[in-house]
Amino acid sequence: MSQTILIVGGAGFIGSNFVHHIASQYPNYKIVVLDALTYAGNLENLEFVKDKIIFIKGNIADMNAVSSVFQEYSPQYIVNFAAETHVDRSIVGPQIFLETNVKGTQNLLEACRKMEIKRYLQVSTDEVYGDLGDHFLNDAPQYFTENTPLSPNCPYAASKASADLFVRSYFETYSLPVLITRCTNNYGPYQYPEKLIPFFLFRAMQNQSLPIYGDGKNVRDWLYVKDHCEAIDRVLHHGKIGEVYNIGGHNEKTNLQITEILLEKLGKPKSLITFVEDRLAHDRRYAMDPTKMREQLGWEPRYPFEKWIDETISWYMEHQEWVDRCAKRSEEFRKQNYDQRKEETH
Ligand code: NAD
Ligand code: TYD
Repeated sequence: MSQTILIVGGAGFIGSNFVHHIASQYPNYKIVVLDALTYAGNLENLEFVKDKIIFIKGNIADMNAVSSVFQEYSPQYIVNFAAETHVDRSIVGPQIFLETNVKGTQNLLEACRKMEIKRYLQVSTDEVYGDLGDHFLNDAPQYFTENTPLSPNCPYAASKASADLFVRSYFETYSLPVLITRCTNNYGPYQYPEKLIPFFLFRAMQNQSLPIYGDGKNVRDWLYVKDHCEAIDRVLHHGKIGEVYNIGGHNEKTNLQITEILLEKLGKPKSLITFVEDRLAHDRRYAMDPTKMREQLGWEPRYPFEKWIDETISWYMEHQEWVDRCAKRSEEFRKQNYDQRKEETH
């Protein structure tokens, strides 16, 4: 019998890449996408698979909207990407992060509890673990493992950690077959141009300054989005129910390194770099230990940064109209987040 997979938040960056992945790898699955189409959601991202999916516009914070999708399609697999995802927006206005990320997740769990589902997978983030500090500079760097205590620092991370705890509680209390993945920073096509890489590409292509927060030495572990999608697929189909899986590729770079790579590849001058007032509660370093993914599920990243950052840059250069249309939807936020930041020297 054919399986139905409900991909929630499937019109965003990672969600749309995952829809493409499932459509190509599981041609027999019925794919239902539920997405509210917020500023970050975009039906254009699903253009190539539009004949292979059923799209439903709906808000997961609205229990009626969630219930009606579950009643109509009775999905066996549910993967939840839907979230407010930008740390800076969570600093400007945290309320919606509670509604979408926490209440929305709990609504999905509640709908699952009333059905016979096979598996619910919550897509989470390394940010729930907090900050590793400057250990990268030492000889023996530290990494987040699945046993690292949750210690979120910004409202976005707090909302994701809260959602994870609800997911865990539905496993412990109701034996709901859940899984949680926590991934590092992704890059690749369809990422909304407010996150570091597409935002800086968008600005550099227009010869505008690149506002690096603080001293630019904050470290992120960058993974190509297709690697993330393959890891989620592996956990969804083969992971152990009730468990957490950390996903990362040991590809740590400072924000300054990333910025210089982008400028060099675009042939733009380093003089575009501007240091600005730091982000509040700016975590210094995130880095995952992905040993469990490798040893228990045989997953390893397949897309090396050196090649796939080039592919990513080419994609954004070829999709400048897509970028412009996205960027127009967040002019107000850009004013709120950037206009007041003073320049600094480092
Ligand atoms: P995104 O912001 O690009 O997309 C989010 C999607 O969720 C959009 O399509 C949006 O319309 C939808 N959405 C938002 N609120 C909704 C609501 N109330 N109801 C229904 N749909 C709603 O996000 P992304 O970068 O693709 O991230 C997807 C998931 O992966 C998130 O849960 C995020 O926390 C997690 N994650 C992201 C990264 C990263 O580097 N981007 C890394 C680790 C984990
Ligand atoms: P971001 O892409 O927002 O992801 P996250 O905060 O989830 O890691 O930011 C990545 C890093 O880049 C983070 O350390 C903040 C920094 N950053 C800047 O320095 N300037 C910017 O304009 C943006 C958007 C991010």
